[in-house]
Amino acid sequence: MSRLVVISNRVAVPKARGAAGAQGGLAGALNSALKKFGGIWFGWSGQESEDRTGNINLQRNDGVTTATIDLSTRDIDEYYNGYANSTLWPLFHYRLDLTEYERETGKGYERVNERFAECVTPLIEEDDLVWVHDYHLLPLGERLRSRGLKNRIGFFLHIPWPPTRLFVSLPFHDRLVKTMLDYDVIGFQTQEWLESFLHYCSKELGAEVDEETGRISYEGRTVLAKAYPIGIDWDHFQAQGETGEARQAQQRLMSSVRHRTAMIGVDRLDYSKGLPERIDGIGRFFDQHPDRVRDLVFIQIAPPSREDVESYQQIRTVLEQKSGQINGARSEVDVVPIRYVNRGYSHAELYGFFRASKIGLVTPLRDGMNLVAKEYLAAQDPEDPGVLILSRFAGAAAQLPDAVLVNPHSPDDLSHAIKKALDMPLDERKRRYEGTIGTVRDDNVQDWTEAFTNDLASVPI
Ligand code: G6P
Repeated sequence: MSRLVVISNRVAVPKARGAAGAQGGLAGALNSALKKFGGIWFGWSGQESEDRTGNINLQRNDGVTTATIDLSTRDIDEYYNGYANSTLWPLFHYRLDLTEYERETGKGYERVNERFAECVTPLIEEDDLVWVHDYHLLPLGERLRSRGLKNRIGFFLHIPWPPTRLFVSLPFHDRLVKTMLDYDVIGFQTQEWLESFLHYCSKELGAEVDEETGRISYEGRTVLAKAYPIGIDWDHFQAQGETGEARQAQQRLMSSVRHRTAMIGVDRLDYSKGLPERIDGIGRFFDQHPDRVRDLVFIQIAPPSREDVESYQQIRTVLEQKSGQINGARSEVDVVPIRYVNRGYSHAELYGFFRASKIGLVTPLRDGMNLVAKEYLAAQDPEDPGVLILSRFAGAAAQLPDAVLVNPHSPDDLSHAIKKALDMPLDERKRRYEGTIGTVRDDNVQDWTEAFTNDLASVPI
């Protein structure tokens, strides 16, 4: 079996207690892929240093070898905070209003991609499968090819791909996508993002696109583009649920809410997650059903993220104000309807919190997949499951149609869904749970890794 060389911006959880809520789906997923194949995980150390000697820090942890480099202050600013998180992230999440277009950060992005290529190339052996991840590294395949790499190289995008009419607002959009066509396989989370990409290649590049097979032919090369919906590490997560830590967390939450229903949200503090809109929906529910204030406690776990980017600082303030207003208006001496926590928890603790919460609220305005939705379901008691309220704009909605699907922009829709979830009889809760849990369990991260790497390994070279 070939080794796997995984390349992504983020290699490991930045802080030991950064935990699932803080790390996003990517880090957890790749850990399990690497344990299976062996190989190397290459990326940014998360550290800042002006060291340009090309030092690579190799470490072996828990069966996975990581190889990391530091980045300079300027690189972090232009590549990570700049082009990746102030241009591509908002644009790919349909937020043109937040998208910045700066030539300098674009150059920094290209420079860091080149640096990644330079540092990782010597670590790659002839038969390795190379698997590049996410929007930080869109042009890396082309940079690797320019260094003569002949290996099979795949790319997976963890976030949405925007519709062509939004994407063309990016200066040099065609140049960027052409670099992507140096990969052999390009994976997306859903059919919807895949279709947007194929549409772009056909309409803007004039590439020959076979919609049925996802094969794109362009300037003598053929690339396979396909949807591979990512899943959770089911076995690992269930094992977390067996721990004393999970049970304690569950007990702690249950005893603190007492007879009230706990409703939970766990998201990185990111504008794409629809957090202010969520609080508005809860506010609307309390306005419409003041007699139910005592029935519900909403717990929002929102670890800070990308704090050097301005749009992320704003979201924090907005959220504090909105939840403060509702608590100010609706609290009693013994009732505080919204608990807003700015930190991450371990996977085991999250399992316990999910299990203790009869409603899971996952309402992003736009999301590549969203694994919190799947983890919430995975933590439920099959005999007495809670209800997942899920945004129709999360990639996960395509896979979990039995969740209560909502439009997260509409406070009335959210309010209605909360009422429905609170009052939902056991037989309907079980029916919805049983409709979704098979997908969560069976379409897991191992399955995702296998599907992608099988396709990549089958590419003729
Ligand atoms: C999303 C992205 C990942 C990223 C994660 C956390 O899940 O798809 O690539 O690692 O967010 O964001 P951060 O900027 O802290 O790496």
